[in-house]
Amino acid sequence: MIIGPPKILLAFVLSASHVCASLPPATNLNEDYVNNQLVSFNIETTQGQQLSSDNTDPMVFMKYNSSDPFSKHMISEGSIADFVGMADFPEKTTFVFSAYTAEDLDELQSALPVSPQFVFAESLDEIDVLLNTSWNSPVLTLSTSSGVATNRLDCYYGSCAWPDEQDFDLPLLNGGSGCSSSEYPSDAASGSYVIVYPHGACSPTDAAKVASKLSYNVIVVQEEGEDLELISSEDDVDGLNIVATMIGFEPGSEIIDSFEAADNGVLNVTLSYDVVPGFFASVSAGGRLLEIGWEKLPTLQMLGWAAQWLEYKSALDTTLSSEEALVVPIFEFDLMQEAASVTMTLPVSESDLRAGGFDAMNVEFALGCDGGQDQDCSIWDHCITFTADCGDGEENLKNEPGGASDEIGRWVTSFRRGVGHFLTDASPLFKKIFAGDDVDTPPTCMFKIQTEGEPWRATLSLRFTKSDDAEAESSLPSETRPIIYENMATKFAGKEYNENRSFVFDVPEGTTKVLLHALITGHGQCEFLPSSHQWIFNDNNSTVFSSSDIAYSSYMLAGTPFGCANRTVEGAVPNEHGTWYYGRGGWCDGMDVKPLVFDVTSEVEVGSTNSLRYYGLGYLSGPIGKGDEDGCGGYILMSSNLAFY
Ligand SMILES: *[C@@H]1O[C@H](CO)[C@@H](O)[C@H](O)[C@H]1NC(C)=O
Ligand SMILES: *[C@@H]1O[C@H](CO)[C@@H](O)[C@H](O)[C@H]1NC(C)=O
Ligand SMILES: *[C@@H]1O[C@H](CO)[C@@H](O)[C@H](O)[C@H]1NC(C)=O
Ligand SMILES: *[C@@H]1O[C@H](CO)[C@@H](O)[C@H](O)[C@H]1NC(C)=O
Ligand SMILES: *[C@@H]1O[C@H](CO)[C@@H](O)[C@H](O)[C@H]1NC(C)=O
Ligand SMILES: *[C@@H]1O[C@H](CO)[C@@H](O)[C@H](O)[C@H]1NC(C)=O
Ligand SMILES: *[C@@H]1O[C@H](CO)[C@@H](O)[C@H](O)[C@H]1NC(C)=O
Repeated sequence: MIIGPPKILLAFVLSASHVCASLPPATNLNEDYVNNQLVSFNIETTQGQQLSSDNTDPMVFMKYNSSDPFSKHMISEGSIADFVGMADFPEKTTFVFSAYTAEDLDELQSALPVSPQFVFAESLDEIDVLLNTSWNSPVLTLSTSSGVATNRLDCYYGSCAWPDEQDFDLPLLNGGSGCSSSEYPSDAASGSYVIVYPHGACSPTDAAKVASKLSYNVIVVQEEGEDLELISSEDDVDGLNIVATMIGFEPGSEIIDSFEAADNGVLNVTLSYDVVPGFFASVSAGGRLLEIGWEKLPTLQMLGWAAQWLEYKSALDTTLSSEEALVVPIFEFDLMQEAASVTMTLPVSESDLRAGGFDAMNVEFALGCDGGQDQDCSIWDHCITFTADCGDGEENLKNEPGGASDEIGRWVTSFRRGVGHFLTDASPLFKKIFAGDDVDTPPTCMFKIQTEGEPWRATLSLRFTKSDDAEAESSLPSETRPIIYENMATKFAGKEYNENRSFVFDVPEGTTKVLLHALITGHGQCEFLPSSHQWIFNDNNSTVFSSSDIAYSSYMLAGTPFGCANRTVEGAVPNEHGTWYYGRGGWCDGMDVKPLVFDVTSEVEVGSTNSLRYYGLGYLSGPIGKGDEDGCGGYILMSSNLAFY
């Protein structure tokens, strides 16, 4: 199951045929500095403060180069406003700005608002050496056969295709102002490059829209004296679907003038990149180096997302090191290609845990890859599923990663970043592990962690913890029962999906609480379309347990431009190599699938036979549309259980 860039054909998520995940390129020259390495530095800020590596809160570094259009755009007014206005602004992080020239440092200092979180420094000490020698950055270039060479600013990645890393010549034609189709060449092959100069007759984006209709890739020339601006179709994900880029007035005019001297009016253009000293780095609370991710979106929010993740990670590390826990390591940097498995006897029995006061079961999972830098990680996103067969004879219902009846947790890999780290409550599934009748004998389980395609490394533990909650004794279930429907089909493209989704179950005498636990993700067409998932008990149609009530932003913001960027604070890995920032159907790239958990006690009758019915709804016209049984055209991976307490 490969989950790539969007390929959906509906009004609010337009079609895309490009799967070029090649830019920005990897430019790292060596592994002198790797992620998670401790680093030592002493930086003096222009305000006279000393910053050292004995930091207890994260630091994010930007070394500014105004000649790079990507960096320049990050310092634009709009970008700064978006950054400081971010929801959940990362308030513990220090953003350390430096520059390659004194003028650029001045520009930075006057552009950014005054804040104790924004500091400026002429030199970054060891971080400068790192940026100079190891973590380089790409500067995108454009050159023509007529001898013009310049830097370029590519269209917003969410709207346009990215050019392949193409160090080869492509024909370039003149498209006049670019504002109407009559100005474009009529006989050129689709996919040709056309240079246009709107000169105020239409906006750069409008010119790109005309080029897009004609299926030409476009180079838009900016007005004289203006900074390069970002071409974007705004909210239309993949709305332009061509390569579109902008260059400055002087080189642009020179290229346009050179058509006259060219044979048959045809020039060649080459899109490439230069490798220059790096622009970005970060240091975690505790002084470990981390890349901030890929240079895809020229907005300062890129630094904000990096900082949100560092703060999430710092809080997670604090929890992991301070809470009392009985930790059972299961996988330790094991290779998933496609799966890793281990059969082991747990070091504790159910009665040991209960007697010890443990009342929660969490899964800690860290995603890694071989090599010390993000460029060493696999490019695509795939589901990861963790299953446990602890001798209760349950059959594995699916052969896809995700949705089997013995599933304990699910995650999704990140596009080419090796930093995911998650802690997911799996307490309702406790009796899948401690499944046997003999509570005094530690269970023997076959644990399996599985993904598809390219290799990843998995580190996973079960963590049994104690909550402060006085009612805690009831938070490990006495039974976990998988919900099995007669219809377990995953395809959700019509009302057949909802047929035969009833389940009859007894609630044991003495039960005081019943939870419904479900892991649900949408894929294929359902990746970028909202869906909702409902359960009704004993035919009482007036009480509906719906995913929209407890996880609206996870399922209903699928396909929105920043639905997953918004979840960086919850641990979604930011600044990945692909379109990590779009909302998705119940998941994000580089994140754990958050379980849906409902307390359904009030709807069941203890000591007797009950029934439940599940149904899904899809929202083909987006989150404001009405849900219906036509579904979302793709498929849904669901595993669900009832837990009795
Ligand atoms: C700054 O960017 C320009 C434009 O691409 C490049 O030529 C130059 O090498 C860069 N300088 C540094 C120090 O990165
Ligand atoms: C960066 O590298 C260049 C070329 O090797 C060198 O001249 C310069 O001093 C270096 N700067 C730092 C801060 O290491
Ligand atoms: C354009 O590129 C093609 C393919 O490399 C080459 O054959 C042709 O001579 C080039 N034309 C010009 C004007 O440079
Ligand atoms: C649901 O059950 C009915 C009766 O057994 C059967 O005819 C129908 O094909 C089933 N539908 C699905 C989608 O499983
Ligand atoms: C509940 O809704 C379902 C589906 O619309 C319907 O078949 C059923 O008859 C309803 N039950 C009651 C008790 O109204
Ligand atoms: C059905 O749901 C309604 C609304 O929550 C509730 O008041 C009622 O008690 C439920 N009926 C039964 C039989 O559980
Ligand atoms: C992201 O979060 C902000 C603040 O909660 C919200 O205003 C915005 O609509 C969200 N955007 C998306 C696409 O989820």
